[in-house]
Amino acid sequence: MRIGVLTGGGDCPGLNAVIRAVTLSLLPAHELLGIERGFWGLMVDRLRPLDAAAVRDRLDEGGTLLGTHNRADPFAWEGTDRSELAWQTCRRHALDALVAIGGDGSLTIAERFGRQCGLPVVGVPKTIDNDIEGNERSFGFDSAVAVVADALTRLQTTARSHGRVMVVETMGRDAGWIALEGGLAGGADAILLPERPFALDALTDFVRLRVAEQGYALVCVAEGARLADGAQSWQQLPGGVARLGGVGNALVQELGQRLPQIEARATLLGHLQRGGAPTAFDRVLSTRFGVAAATCVREGAFGVTVALQGDRVVRVPLALVAGKNRRVPAAHELLNCAAALGVFV
Ligand code: F6P
Repeated sequence: MRIGVLTGGGDCPGLNAVIRAVTLSLLPAHELLGIERGFWGLMVDRLRPLDAAAVRDRLDEGGTLLGTHNRADPFAWEGTDRSELAWQTCRRHALDALVAIGGDGSLTIAERFGRQCGLPVVGVPKTIDNDIEGNERSFGFDSAVAVVADALTRLQTTARSHGRVMVVETMGRDAGWIALEGGLAGGADAILLPERPFALDALTDFVRLRVAEQGYALVCVAEGARLADGAQSWQQLPGGVARLGGVGNALVQELGQRLPQIEARATLLGHLQRGGAPTAFDRVLSTRFGVAAATCVREGAFGVTVALQGDRVVRVPLALVAGKNRRVPAAHELLNCAAALGVFV
């Protein structure tokens, strides 16, 4: 078979490890073509052979050797449906199947493309946000959490030295997983999640008390966090995607007005959470996902994404994943852990 491989959406640590595992598992029996910059490469015909030499040394390398694109949707590219163009590229290269490594957006596109054009597709769940339906752990998430934990640990020493409130803003879009696990791992005093809109009065009282008790406070806020009684104003981008970011600074201003005697500072971690090498956990998970996706191809199990459930890599129908978003449930064990430790969550 001749198999196309693409990476779509925001990059994350572990993408190259998946490409490596898919390629090394399928060679030499099958032929692999790397598609550049996600579905964009199918629209403009940018494909190149993937061989062992191209992937062998990539296990620990961040980013994606194929490049990626955040908004390359062939069904809505610059206001036009270009899916037929993308499908023509697949036919021109005689692709028998596609391995699509992407987040909720790219997997949704892959499912639709496979269904409408008849191309057999296997998905691999990628995102630091950890918000893909049917999958308990996407690769890249552990690496992002490690960055948040390290940042909080570093900020704790300077917060304590100056008697300040340090606010750390994490990524995650509408899901609070990065802030929740990163906040717990970094010893945050307050963790603010999109799933749990918070009241400023209650947070202010908590911070005042915490500073009185221990001399400083660490707040970990997810970029999608919302006030209980307010709306979030996001910058709307072409293609309908909202750009988040800035809630940490807004929070510091609010706290500064409400607690003028306590200094507060914000740190926006931004794309630091996506860059760099994958953790050992993510290297292993990426490798497991890549091998499992290759097995799907060999066994003709298409229209599925590989996923982690418990400690097992399973197959989940792409149709069940498409268009969905996995968020922190109300009674999640980690929320109980945080509450048991007196964390404001
Ligand atoms: O979905 C991954 C993610 O990193 C989000 O956490 C974040 O909101 C978004 O991508 C940022 O995207 P961009 O790279 O376009 O700024």
